[in-house]
Parts: sequence; C-alpha cells; structure tokens
Amino acid sequence: MKRLIIPLLLAIALSMNAAPGMPVIKGERFPDTQGDHINAHGGGIMEKDGTYYWYGEHRGDGTPGSGQKGVVCYTSSDLHAWTPRGVVLAVTDTKGDPLEAGCIIERPKVVFCPATAKYVMWFHHELKGVGYGSAHSAVAVADNPLGPFRMLRTGRVNPGVMPVNLPSESVSKQWSDTLEWWTPQWRKAVDEGMFTVRDLDRGQMARDMGIFVDSDGKAYHIYSSESNLTLQIAELDSTFTRHTGKYVRLFPGGHNEAPAMFKHDGVYWMITSGCTGWEPNEARLMRADNILGPWKQLPNPCRGAEAEKTFCGQSTFVMRVGDSYTFMADIWNPKNLADSRHLWLPVKFDSDGVPFIDSPDSYRIASIE
Ligand code: DGJ
Repeated sequence: MKRLIIPLLLAIALSMNAAPGMPVIKGERFPDTQGDHINAHGGGIMEKDGTYYWYGEHRGDGTPGSGQKGVVCYTSSDLHAWTPRGVVLAVTDTKGDPLEAGCIIERPKVVFCPATAKYVMWFHHELKGVGYGSAHSAVAVADNPLGPFRMLRTGRVNPGVMPVNLPSESVSKQWSDTLEWWTPQWRKAVDEGMFTVRDLDRGQMARDMGIFVDSDGKAYHIYSSESNLTLQIAELDSTFTRHTGKYVRLFPGGHNEAPAMFKHDGVYWMITSGCTGWEPNEARLMRADNILGPWKQLPNPCRGAEAEKTFCGQSTFVMRVGDSYTFMADIWNPKNLADSRHLWLPVKFDSDGVPFIDSPDSYRIASIE
C-alpha cells in the first residue's frame, strides 16, 4: 500500500506550470508516508542540510474533544513524500503550566539561529481557559530540529516600548476604548495608536504570526496585533529568541491575519488574509523596499475561480526553494480541524515583477503512469 501511495502522491502533485519538482497541492487529502492525512496546520517549512522540516499545529485525531497534542513535524528530502516525526513541542498534564493541555497553539514557525546553533520556534499561544484572550507569543528552542523543544517564554510583545513609527506624544492622547467601532473618530484613534497605547504596559497583542529571516541574517516577528486590527513587525535579537524593542505598526485598522512574508529581487512581499474566523476571505498583497516600511497594499494576488476567497484557503507561509516560491494555505475545516486541507500553489511574477497566484483549477493533474 505504502509503495503505491508515494508515486500516486507524486503524480497528483506534479502539475503544469509549477517549477519542476515543486508540489502543487489543491486541497485533496495529503497522505504522509504512513498513509495518514498530514496533521500539521498553520505551519511553515524550514530547510536544513538538505532536509525539509514541516512544522504545524496538531489538531487532534478527529474525534471531538481529542485536542491538540502540540507542534508536530514531518520531514522530506523532496517536498513530496513526508515522514511523520511526531510531536516536537508537547502540551503537558501539569496544571498551571503554560502548555497545559487545553491551551491553544497556532501558526508555529521554526528557524535555525546561526549565532546559537539552536532551532527556534515561535508560535501564537493562548493560555488554557481564556479563549483567544491572552494574545501571547511563545518561544521555544531545541538543539535538534526534531526537538524536543523547550519552552522559554510566553507573553505579549515589547511591553513598555512604543513603535518606531508612532510619535511618543500619542501616549498622552485622551482616547477611549469605548468609542463606537468603525466610526470616523474610532478609525482616526486607531490610526493614531489608541490600541497600541492601551496595551503599552502589558505588551502588544500577538496572534496570527510569521517569522522572517532576512538576507542579512536579521530575524523579524510579524503578527496581528491591537485586537487583530493592525499588523506589527518586530525585530528579534541575534539569538532570535527576544524582541529588541524596535518595531513598527502596519495598516492600522486593516484587519489583517495570517501574514506570510517573502523577499524576491530585493523587494519584501507579504500575503495576508482578512479576519473572518475559520471562513475564507480575499487575500491581500503588500510590498515594501524596506522591511520596516513603508508598506503599500496592492490588489488581491489570487486569479481565477474563487480568487475572491483565496480558493477557500488562508495563507500560512511562502516557501522559497531556489528561485521558486510556493504559497501555502490552510483550507480550514472547523468541524474537524485535523482534516483541514493543504493548498500549495506556485507564486508567479507578472511583467512588472508583481507576484500572483493562479487558481488550483489551472493546474492539471499529471497523468498517472
Ligand atoms: C483565524 C486565524 O487565522 C486562525 O489561525 C485561527 O486563529 C482562527 N482565526 C480562529 O477562529
């Protein structure tokens, strides 16, 4: 059976227009080398010494209430056949532990830190019993990419520090958190940092997130902040485990989630989603010449049928392999999150160098020999 699955998967995955060898996944069941659908969601991929490591959210075994076990990892040498490597950061039964079973772990991303030779994992973390109220980021490290990862810290971002692109006079402005949402006064106050200042002492909220390591070796944490209204990009220190205190706000009131950043020909690009829970919505595209901005929003990068809802997916990562970029998204199934599907589509560039993503329908399924 196993012998059949890998060639079948390869055949399904290889499609026209994709860079040779790059898989295209269109929401079909994506079996690992054991034949089980890959239970790694909201994740990302790290390459090290010729091996690809796919980290993602474990979403239970499909039975109601089975819960998350933690962050899982799968490995591959060709991006097509993925071997399950188990849980690399585990929830615990210890009461009061930040990782107590029942906490929420979302959008884990792992990078290798050359300065410390450690693997560093960041993820969106919600403490048990508070829904999405903690809005924490957590960081864990390991000596081995297969773990075990050891939790270092969980918390809000950059407490007591103002963003570099918001004047410090904002702190003394008289704002009210009770202003009616989406009124012009409220919009203005959001632009001017009402929520940033609200969270100044405790630290900035951080939910959906990504980590980006720039070509100069600096790492950045990109996250939905300020009650999911505003994106922030925060610089990490040389260990990749701490924020330096330098951060910017982007698109105040823009309601962006699911940030996936990449860099092509010296330009920074980011694909995000809107905020509609597990329901798909229209992707957004942003560009910048400098990672800390200014950033500019461009039209939806998706083309073709169902482009207005990102082909039913929500961005999680853009994987770069050589000069090929693959848009990775989750097709969420809130009734059975473990069975959420994967969408991997090539990122192409138009004649002006602007990235776009063609509909999955435009990729034929390769003939099976
Ligand atoms: C949208 C986020 O992108 C997901 O990661 C998850 O947090 C859901 N919201 C929960 O509704």
